[in-house]
Amino acid sequence: MKTLKILFATPECAPWVKTGGLGEVSADLPKALCAQGLDAQVLMPAYDSVLQAAHAAGEVAPVAELPAAHGFPAARLLRTHLPSGVPALLVDVPALYRRDGGPYGDPSGRDHEDNAIRFGLLSHVAARLASSESPLPWQPDVLHCNDWPTALAPAYLAHGLQRRAATVMGLHNMAFQGLFPLHLAGALGLPDHLLHMEGVEFWGQLSFLKAGIQYADHIVTVSPTYAREIVSEPLGCGLSGVLGNRREVLSGILNGIDTSVWDPATDAHLHQTYDAVTLQRKRSNKLALQRRMGLPENPDAFLMGMVSRMTDQKGVDLVIAALPELLKDGAQVVALGAGTPAMETAWREATHVWPEQAASFIGFDESLAHLIEAGSDVFLMPSRFEPCGLNQMYSQRYGTPPVVHATGGLADAVLDAASEPGQPSISTGFKMNEPTAEALIQTVRRARELYADADTWGTLCRNGMAKDFSWEGSAAAYADLYAGLVARRAVA
Ligand code: ADP
Ligand code: GLC
Repeated sequence: MKTLKILFATPECAPWVKTGGLGEVSADLPKALCAQGLDAQVLMPAYDSVLQAAHAAGEVAPVAELPAAHGFPAARLLRTHLPSGVPALLVDVPALYRRDGGPYGDPSGRDHEDNAIRFGLLSHVAARLASSESPLPWQPDVLHCNDWPTALAPAYLAHGLQRRAATVMGLHNMAFQGLFPLHLAGALGLPDHLLHMEGVEFWGQLSFLKAGIQYADHIVTVSPTYAREIVSEPLGCGLSGVLGNRREVLSGILNGIDTSVWDPATDAHLHQTYDAVTLQRKRSNKLALQRRMGLPENPDAFLMGMVSRMTDQKGVDLVIAALPELLKDGAQVVALGAGTPAMETAWREATHVWPEQAASFIGFDESLAHLIEAGSDVFLMPSRFEPCGLNQMYSQRYGTPPVVHATGGLADAVLDAASEPGQPSISTGFKMNEPTAEALIQTVRRARELYADADTWGTLCRNGMAKDFSWEGSAAAYADLYAGLVARRAVA
């Protein structure tokens, strides 16, 4: 059988550049696809951090010059490899991508002013490589786009370029849509006849994400539950109608995790490694975490952990509001994250109010994230919505039952004895049905009651550790999806 070639277009990819789960998925899914015998390549901008890392690894070669088109400047295409060995194509335009700050914004967090052109170009290059205009001998069978920064590509392929590849629009978060003034359409090379409600127009603006949803052959979300949630409001974020019209080609595949990086048996970030058989060793990570966060070292204190972007989505404010109740009877909480100034301040204040019980680190710290997964008794994830979420899977793998709001990937990846009647023995965590401080308080109370029973608690932890969250199954599901699309195009 012919090897399927997949071009995976993304604005971020770990370890080079990562602002959240999309960066991780962009590294892990192509790697897992290659492991299954597919030929997957990543396409992303040549940011400074990417070029530095790629040059340090030794191999960056120019492979094509793409001429200027519409309002886009000419671009150089570079070829290199990710540390995993997966081939990567970099879109190199120094004026657009080599600058201070992150992929989307300047150092102060403000969006780069020219994001429409920066990510319009990324989309346009993806489309050119998937079309008959590609300058490369390597021709993808499927173009897999990810989130709004790549979402114009299906529109270019449906209206303009002569396409060769099938298109998949991957939705990681409907809350980010890439909305820009309609007058940019010319510079972006979008024909006038697309600038209406049935096209890419969204309440008087131009929506990148809507373009991807309208024109992709298939739309895939990062969990099955999220695929069902976004055909209604509020989680459709204004696009539920458009998604509803495309329901037949909308599905969800749960993300996996990198089980070699996230493995308590080998994790170098831990104070003490452990597995399901040596679970009692987890305790020394708890003491190490308390020590590192300046909390009293107390193996008996019920310790809640959180690692998250501090934004509305993640329900960080619900935890803050619930703290007076959650911290009763000597419980402790540690939080790691960065986000809105109000939430960061609230966490800093909490640590002053409860110096012996609440600790936070505002910033990004990979190593601390691992220690929190291992050292906490429960992991808090009361997200208002969560397309997939990775931490609830990490925490189960680390024997730290998660307390989650039953939405998106949190609903799909956690089993709660209370919501799976008759099968308490397979429970792996605790679900609440509403994202409120009150529900969080009740659910953590339920967790604490079970925590008091060491045997049952041990079963719960081991249930989570035994679950298979590796990418294998998900990558196989993507491979089936791609093969189906290619077969359908061949018939059409
Ligand atoms: P999202 O992409 O919506 O932020 P995910 O759960 O999919 O949510 O992925 C977030 C990833 O980023 C996780 O791997 C999480 O551990 C990591 N992360 C988030 N904030 C921090 C932080 N402050 N320090 C270290 N890792 C973080
Ligand atoms: C987004 C979502 C998150 C998901 C990640 C990777 O950032 O917010 O839930 O896990 O994408 O798909």
